[in-house]
Order: sequence, then C-alpha cells, then structure tokens
Amino acid sequence: MDLTWFVSFLLAFIISSFIYSTWNSIYRGRNLPPGPTPLPIIGNALHIKRGEMVKSLMELRDKYGSIYTVYFGHYPIVVLCGYDTVKEALIDRAEDFGGRGRLPTIDQFVKGYGVVFSNGNRWKDLRRFSITILRNFGMGKKTIEERIQEESSFLMAEIKSQKEQYIDPTRFLVQAVSNVICSIVFGNRFEYSNDSFQKLLTMFSVVFQDQSGVYGQFQDMLPTLMSYVPGPHKRLNRSMKRVTDFIRERIKMNEESFDPHSPRHFIDCFLAKQKQEKDNPNFDRINMVFTILNLFFAGTETVSTTLRHGLMILMKYPEIQDKLHQEIARVIGDSRVPNIEDRSKMPYTDAVIHEIQRFSDILPLNVPHATTRDVTFKGYTIPKGTDVYPLLCSVLQDPTKLACPTKFDPNNFLDDKGCFKKNEAYMPFSAGKRVCLGEGLARMELFIFFTTILQHFNLTSKTTFTEEDIRPVMTGFANIPKFYQMSFVPRV
Ligand code: HEM
Repeated sequence: MDLTWFVSFLLAFIISSFIYSTWNSIYRGRNLPPGPTPLPIIGNALHIKRGEMVKSLMELRDKYGSIYTVYFGHYPIVVLCGYDTVKEALIDRAEDFGGRGRLPTIDQFVKGYGVVFSNGNRWKDLRRFSITILRNFGMGKKTIEERIQEESSFLMAEIKSQKEQYIDPTRFLVQAVSNVICSIVFGNRFEYSNDSFQKLLTMFSVVFQDQSGVYGQFQDMLPTLMSYVPGPHKRLNRSMKRVTDFIRERIKMNEESFDPHSPRHFIDCFLAKQKQEKDNPNFDRINMVFTILNLFFAGTETVSTTLRHGLMILMKYPEIQDKLHQEIARVIGDSRVPNIEDRSKMPYTDAVIHEIQRFSDILPLNVPHATTRDVTFKGYTIPKGTDVYPLLCSVLQDPTKLACPTKFDPNNFLDDKGCFKKNEAYMPFSAGKRVCLGEGLARMELFIFFTTILQHFNLTSKTTFTEEDIRPVMTGFANIPKFYQMSFVPRV
C-alpha cells in the first residue's frame, strides 16, 4: 500500500516537474515584455483579484510599467498603459496593432462574424460599409440627427408622464438610445410601453452585467475551465441568441417590402450590397445578423450608461447643472429643439460631456486587440496574433495629462478664457484602425439627449451623492455605475 502511494507521488512529482520545466522554458524563451511569473494551466489567474480585473491590471502597471505581459491560461496578453504607450501602438503603429483579440465570453457565440469581432478582409469590408451608412449616405430621407431629435422628444414626453415621481431612469434611457439604433437599422422605433421590446433590452443589460461580473471575468481568463463551472456566464449564449432571433425575424419581414432602388435603413442598404456583391461571403446573412447585433450591443449600453452616469454626476454637482442650464438658455432657449450646430457655441456643455465620458470610463479595458504580424515594440518581440489590451482607463486617468485624474472636473477641457480645449487623455472611443465606428453617432446622441433633458428639467434626488457614489465601479469589461432614483422637475 505504502509502495503504491510512494509510486503515485513520485509519478505526480515527475509529471508536474516536466510540465513546469517545459512551460518555464517556453515562457522564458520568449522576448515578451516582463510580468508576473505565470503558472502552468492557470497562468496569472492568481494575480487577478476576484472580480477586480481592472484594478488588478492597474496595480500590475505600478509594478511593471507601461508595458507588461500577463497570462490568461497559456495565452500571453500584452498590456499597454498610459497615453504615450497606447498612442504609440494604436496610432503610430496602427496596422501592427489593428487586429481583434480574443474575448471568450463573446467569441463562443459570435465566432468571428460581424464587424466588431472579425479580422482581415471580412472586417475591412464590414467596417467600410458600416461607416458609410452611419455617415448618412443613401439611407432614406431622415438624417441621423433628425432621428435622435425625434427620439429625444418622445423621451421628454415619457419623462413628463412620470409627474416628478422618484424613478430609476435606466429603462427610459436604454429605450431611447436603443430606439435610435432601431430607427437606423429597421427604420422604426418602439413604444416605451412595448413589453416584448422591453424584454429584449433587458437581455442587453443582462449580457453586459454577466460579462463584467466575477464569473464573466474568470471566463475571459480561463474559458476551458469555466465551461465546466455553473454560473451566470452560462446564460450569455442564451441571451444573445434571443437578440439574434429577433434580428433575423426583422430582416425576413423587411425582405418582403425591399426595393433596391430606395433603401430606407441599414437592413435595406445591406440587402442592396448583397445583390451588388453576390460572390462576396463577407456580406452574407450571418455577417449581416452579427453586424446588426454588434451595432445594438456597441451602441445601446455604452451611450445609455454614459447618460445614466452623467445625470448622477450633475445631481452631485448642482452648480455645474446650473451653469449648463444658463448656457442652454443663452444659446438654445426653451422652445426649439437642440441641434448639433449648437455644440460649437456651447463650450461649457461640450467640456462637461467630455469630462463625463472621461470620468465614467465605460470600457476601461478597451476591446481586446491583437498583433497582425510579428511586431518589435519597445525592444520586445510580440508574435503575430498575440492579444493586446490597450487599457483605456490608464489613458483616461493619465496623471501626465490631468492635474487630478480621479476628480470630476470640466476644467480638464476648458482654457483660461472658458473656451473648449482638447485634452489627450480623452480616449473613450479608443484610437487608430479599430477606433469606435459609432463615435460620431454617440457624441451626437450624448449632446442632444443631455441638452434636451436639461432644457426641460431640473434634476433632483433624495440621495445626497458622495464622491464615492459617482466613482465608476471598476470591475470587468464594462463599468456599470450604481443604480439610483431621481426626479425630473419641469423647468417651464
Ligand atoms: C459612449 C458611447 C460609446 C463608447 C464609449 C464606445 C467605445 C468603443 C470602444 C472603446 C471600442 C473599441 C475600439 C478598439 O477596439 O480600439 C468600440 C468599438 C466599436 N463601437 Fe463603440 N462606443 C460607443 C458607442 C457606439 C455606438 C453608438 C456605435 C454604433 C451604433 C458603436 C459601434 C462600435 C463598433 C461597430 C465598434 C467596433 C469597431 C471595429 O472593430 O472596427 N459604438 N467602441
């Protein structure tokens, strides 16, 4: 018996030593940036605190500097921190760092289809096409600005109907923002009272929360292991399937009335493109469905969460809210609808919105990038296809660009004369080849929604918000601010 135990122990010891030394020689043989020593199988999972991916990566930055390597399982991830390093990679070496990296929570369902998670020619075709449509070429009579203005008037009516009650604004904001995408993609909006639409939107929030939570973070680090572990990450595929079923149904409905000579919205434009490029698989049905899914995901939670976080910040700082009211009264007045040309005449509002985006830091880790070829960068060799995390949180809070990075301060975007001033730390949409393709749309939405809400309402809450309350909750993929109740008090 004792002998069996001894042999088993010896065997386990020999196998572990073999795995460790093989792993160690592979790991040490690479000229990747330095980082914490990884273990076989789990990599640096022990260096990432439970549920605190962003904080842990920022702490590693303090130890290893602006470029370091962590291992998720046996995959190396090169982490880039601070404006100078992120800019050098994403802008100066845009082609080298322009690939899309792995995001296992999403990849398992999306499988490289659609614009966000594709690479190579598929990505180039889908990106070029989507940008053209979002820039407003050849899509019906209404401009994108008009679609946002129309939705903001529905949002005002909905808020008024609440009669100053204390409410959680999340649902209305998500519905309004999502309706803008619906109008662009399907050509119609949905009533706020529409139950099935509300359920669909709940799916988006669930996906974002599950992906950013403790289990989602573990799945992004150790996908194989986590496929055996029960938890909320298991429902991600189900939630996404419900959204794609809805999209497929809408495409089918649309095909019946499709006229290639007068495209009315994104789906029509895609169908027309399919006809033109019959033999190009990049414009097939599955890429169409997943590109639309991408627009919904990328465009709904990001903008609505920024609005929700922004409203809380404006209640914390009533003096900033007052100044916004004054600028809106001076430039727009109380009767006409705000438009995007107003923005250049409203430096204070523009600065506050920039600061809200900088401070709320919606996607702190960015979306993973990958090297498109073997790259020599800062003296290291990063092989083709290595995942790269250009940390946006480290740029948005770069102490070399901001006097007090953790404090909310619109002066970060104002000069001594009160004119709008650019700040390089503003990089919420990332930069370079993969820069957010909805940036123009998102910035237009934020300006029109914020100014229209403030034109009509004073924002109040029973809660006295503290600095701690308004701080972004640094967790995983997306920063989701605290939920709160507020009242919209009509101004006229
Ligand atoms: C406040 C709002 C938004 C923020 C902060 C934001 C941020 C980002 C970030 C950080 C990325 C990753 C860029 C990279 O990989 O380097 C991204 C990508 C993307 N965003 Fe946005 N986004 C916002 C709104 C939108 C909207 C409204 C849309 C469109 C409807 C959109 C569509 C996309 C798409 C399609 C990509 C993938 C681009 C590619 O891979 O080539 N986003 N966004």
